[in-house]
Amino acid sequence: MVIQCGGDPAWTEPGLQASWHYPFVKQGAGNVRLSLNALFTLIFGPEMAAAQPVQAQPHVPVMLAEVLDALGPRDGATYVDGTFGAGGYTRAILDAADTRVLAIDRDPSAIRVGQALAEAYGGRLSLLEGRFGDMEALVGDVPVDGIVLDIGVSSMQLDQAERGFSFLRDGPLDMRMAQSGPSAADAVNSLPQEALSNIIYVFGEEPKARAIARAIVAARAEAPITTTFGLVKAIERVTGRPRPDRIHPATRTFQALRIHVNGELDELVEALHAAERMLGPGGRLAVVTFHSLEDRIVKRFFASRGGRLPSGSRHLPGALAGPEPSFELAHKGHVGASEEEARRNPRARSAKLRAGIRTAAPPMPSIADEIGLSPRTGARH
Ligand SMILES: C[S@@+](CC[C@H](N)C(=O)[O-])C[C@H]1O[C@@H](n2cnc3c(N)ncnc32)[C@H](O)[C@@H]1O
Repeated sequence: MVIQCGGDPAWTEPGLQASWHYPFVKQGAGNVRLSLNALFTLIFGPEMAAAQPVQAQPHVPVMLAEVLDALGPRDGATYVDGTFGAGGYTRAILDAADTRVLAIDRDPSAIRVGQALAEAYGGRLSLLEGRFGDMEALVGDVPVDGIVLDIGVSSMQLDQAERGFSFLRDGPLDMRMAQSGPSAADAVNSLPQEALSNIIYVFGEEPKARAIARAIVAARAEAPITTTFGLVKAIERVTGRPRPDRIHPATRTFQALRIHVNGELDELVEALHAAERMLGPGGRLAVVTFHSLEDRIVKRFFASRGGRLPSGSRHLPGALAGPEPSFELAHKGHVGASEEEARRNPRARSAKLRAGIRTAAPPMPSIADEIGLSPRTGARH
């Protein structure tokens, strides 16, 4: 086994989003490359590693060319970027043609930093602070030609220890994209053990959810868990310390809490339905996801809207025939990042793009009940 030491602290586990940063990356047969941060974590433990200065990485937009291709920006058209972040997609849409962009983000920091971009593009870019699940209300009567969503958190959010998203950086156990409402610490210190266990199991797909919830409840009985490393410690009582050949043991629990705190899956469902109502014939919808829970929702949505479900077959006679498809699907399944992009940007490895073009058919009934988003995330604050 060859162990290399690199300077990038932001390795991600393939198949998982950047928020579950994983310090080790397998590079070919048996070789493991360690980031500096990982090496420190191994030798000195997470507390000492966190004391090392971590450089904030600029957010690199994922699958930009493929997203632009799916949106097809054209002169005079208006686009909604529901996840403005560092403005990577927005900027590309504005540069591709004489377009207008209405960019939404629930994180006030993203909106604040984005003001410089809005000034640079004059009246062509409007920044709207709020949730993309509320995009109809935020956008109002403006006719929209395309909508893009890049689900998840940005590198800026992850890299700032004080935002509490990363189990590799010690900070307050926060995880609130909107910087308001109940935090991850509130959830961890107040929810009943069974509710915690359900959240960790459903939103983290963590097989040890029950034991981790038990360990959290035992830890908080000694003292409230207020920091990311405090939570990591409680999790490691069940899982043991991180191992170079495994994903970090806190990965799934952090994912689950983040989804819960931000009501992420409910938001996604709301946004997909809003997009279906807002787009006229020919309007484009492009959605990039990073883990299976999100992708399952988008896949199910497009399958039902594209007439790809058995009950929705247009070729069946009479009552069995489903409604007219409200989207023509842009691809057969999903599109992934190119090998070259995945090599350059580890975050792109798990990205999946699904896209469609709106038909003239009316919107269909909601998929919310059939995909059973239990336990309700409910964090609509
Ligand atoms: C992956 S980043 C987007 C990066 C962006 N595409 C770029 O190229 O810079 C996701 C952003 O979406 C925001 N976000 C996540 N969920 C949101 C929601 N429900 N409503 C509004 N913004 C949301 C996050 O705050 C974050 O800034």
